[in-house]
Amino acid sequence: MRATVDHDLCIGDAICESICPQVFELGDDGLSYVIADPYPADLQGEVEEAVESCPTDAIAIHQDDADIEDRLLKSIRSK
Ligand code: F3S
Repeated sequence: MRATVDHDLCIGDAICESICPQVFELGDDGLSYVIADPYPADLQGEVEEAVESCPTDAIAIHQDDADIEDRLLKSIRSK
């Protein structure tokens, strides 16, 4: 899975970094950056907690692009 931070919404609250510093790090501009992309599966709980705790809903979780590509290819090949 991948996490993204919408920099139009992030206000640098840093809750994400304090909950899951392995995935989120505040940059010099005061905004949060994803430093593990994709992030390890064992951090799923912390990333979800960060999503729920962000006051501006700036964080989103996405399926790994490779997973989606893989499923699309399989579905095309099975037709
Ligand atoms: Fe920004 Fe939300 Fe983290 S405002 S710094 S993404 S907790």
